[in-house]
Formats: sequence, C-alpha cells, structure tokens
Amino acid sequence: MSVLTDRFGRVHDYLRISVTDRCNLRCLYCMPEEGVEFAPSSDLLSYDHIVEVVSVAASLGITKLRITGGEPLVRPNLDMLIKRLAAIDGIQDIALTTNGVLLAAQAEALRAAGVNRVNISLDTLDPTRFRFIARRGDLNRVMEGIEAAARVGFAPIKLNCVLLKGVNEDEIASFLQMAKDQPLHVRFIEYMPIGHADENWRNHYLPLSRVLEIAEEQKLQFIRKDGIIGNGPSEDYMITDGVGSFGLIHPISDHFCQQCNRLRLTADGGLKPCLYWVDELNVKSSLNDPAALRELFMRAMDIKPLNHEMAAKLANTELSHEPTARRMSQIGG
Ligand code: GTP
Ligand code: 5AD
Ligand code: SF4
Repeated sequence: MSVLTDRFGRVHDYLRISVTDRCNLRCLYCMPEEGVEFAPSSDLLSYDHIVEVVSVAASLGITKLRITGGEPLVRPNLDMLIKRLAAIDGIQDIALTTNGVLLAAQAEALRAAGVNRVNISLDTLDPTRFRFIARRGDLNRVMEGIEAAARVGFAPIKLNCVLLKGVNEDEIASFLQMAKDQPLHVRFIEYMPIGHADENWRNHYLPLSRVLEIAEEQKLQFIRKDGIIGNGPSEDYMITDGVGSFGLIHPISDHFCQQCNRLRLTADGGLKPCLYWVDELNVKSSLNDPAALRELFMRAMDIKPLNHEMAAKLANTELSHEPTARRMSQIGG
C-alpha cells in the first residue's frame, strides 16, 4: 500500500504548491477589489524550503506537482524553482495554474525548466467583461499567454472558466465553440464559497448542468472520456466533430472527494489535507528535519476529512466541521 494513504483508502500522489498569495488581478470570485492583506515575504517558504518539503513528499509517493498562487508568475525566478523540483527523484509531472497575464514572457523559460502542462484562467472572451471580472489587467495579455503556451509546446492546454450566474453564463456557447475549433481543453468550474461573502456566492453560483444542455442545443457532438486529460477532478468530454475538448468541475452539485489524490502546501507553509477544511499543519517547525516532515505528511493523512461540505452550505444545513479560514488566493485553488 502506498505510504500516503488516508483513513478512507485514498492514495495521494499529487501536491499543489502555492508559491505566493499575491496576484496581479482581483477576480471577483476570489479577492475583494481592494485586495487582501498579503503575507510578508519573510513568511513565505523560500525556494530552498520548498525543495526540501518536496524531496520528502517525493520519498513518500508524491509524483505530480502543480504550482499555484495567488498568481505564481509574480514570484521572481519561478523557473529556477521549477528546475530544482524537476530534478527531485520521483517527480514525474510538473504543472502550473496561472491567470496567463505574465505567461507570454515566461513560457519558454518555464517549459525549459520542466513545466509540462499549464492551466490558464479564462472566464470571458470579452475585453470589457474581463475588466469587470478581473478588475485589472487586459484580456489581450491572457490571449498572448495562451498562444505562447501553445507555441512552446505545453500540452494539453487547459482553460479554466468559473461560471457565474448573471455574469458570464451567456458565454457558455462561445467557449464550447472555442473548444470545437481549437486544440484546447475548456473547463467550466462551479463557483465555490471560499473566502468571500456568502451572499455574493449564493447570487452567482451556477450548477454546471446548464453546460450540457447548451452543448445539446448547439448540436455539438461529444463523448465522455474518463481520466485521459490529467489527473484532476474534471469530468471530461471529447468533441468528436471538432479538435478540442471540454470538462466540468462541479465540486458542489456533484463532489469528487471520493477520488481525491491531493495535498496542498500554502506559500507560508500550511500543509492542507483538504481545500475546504480548517485543520492544517505547518511545515515550518519541521524544516531541516526530514523525519519530522515525514511525520507531518502522515498526520495530514490522519486528519483528512471524507469530503468537504460546500453543498451543505448552499442548502443552509449545519456543517459538521469548520470550513477553511483562508481565501482561495491563499490556497491556490
Ligand atoms: P489537473 O487536472 O491536474 O490539470 O488540475 P486541476 O484541475 O486539479 O487544477 P486547477 O488548478 O486548474 O484547478 C481547477 C479548479 O478545480 C479550480 O477551481 C480549483 O479550485 C478546483 N479544484 C482543484 N482541486 C480541487 C479539489 O481537490 N477540491 C475542490 N473542491 N476543487 C478543486
Ligand atoms: N470557485 C471556483 N474556482 C475558483 N478559482 C478561484 N476562485 C474560485 C472560486 N471561488 C479558480 C481560478 C483558477 C483556479 C486556481 O481556481 O479561476 O483557475
Ligand atoms: Fe488572482 Fe487567480 Fe484569484 Fe483571479 S482567481 S484574483 S487570477 S489568484
């Protein structure tokens, strides 16, 4: 049996590493317009620390890494960290989740350093709406980032579209068309109640059943393909009369916790067994001590809950455990 197996038999081979809580955008489902209090840089794990934690994680069976933020590309010299992570024995796959704004400038260096795959946030195809959702930045930069990602050979390229009722639901058809015409994997994501007012979430939450209805209306030809495009929670569909594919990530209307294979490391050292669970363990007190770090990973397995309770929150049912106090940008999704 693999070392990182939790109380419910789930094997963990995937670590998501947030390298910063800072971001150059302020997406309305993630951060308030005025931003949040960012961790001082002295609180962040150094690259040396991250390499140390990952070396221990790899010795316990972690083979896949995903680098997240905030926005990971705002942390200086990220390619140097990637190069060191790629050299760790046992690490087979390094992916990156980014908002794309700084990607065009860094794509080549990241690819050379060892990133295999990128997931890029894209919630709208309309420049004005982009400014409404992200509150900063420029859609053109993101589009250039997507083009650069294709040019340097990242594959597959996944686009993350968080669907918001009354904001971008009218673009589902355009995103599906994009997935039909281009070799991209477009993922629609349910809005999760993490780190902002409940009221905002309730008003904008949209279950993803709408996407399949629209795909049928559009007469798109598609078939379900299990687990071929990565190792995450997405329910994937190949478009048989086109070149791309699409996926649905529905943590609320149909959660995927029974297949959870992941742990998270926050930029300030929190080892989180679950995205939506208050308990976490900090690696800082165990640095320079591989045995203590190993012990911490084992404890994370012991405290991991069976599932999150976001749906209970929507239904106003009492939660059996406290959800996380961190914001999405402080966890990395
Ligand atoms: P791959 O499948 O490896 O490509 O990555 P991914 O889809 O897991 O990663 P990404 O960072 O692109 O996340 C896409 C969406 O899935 C984001 O909204 C994440 O917050 C969400 N997500 C990722 N992992 C989990 C999880 O364990 N639980 C929940 N509830 N949501 C998750
Ligand atoms: N609900 C769902 N997805 C979210 N993301 C950020 N905040 C939320 C939220 N509240 C997504 C981003 C990015 C990924 C890391 O998480 O769009 O693609
Ligand atoms: Fe930044 Fe990502 Fe949060 Fe948007 S979702 S504000 S891009 S961290």
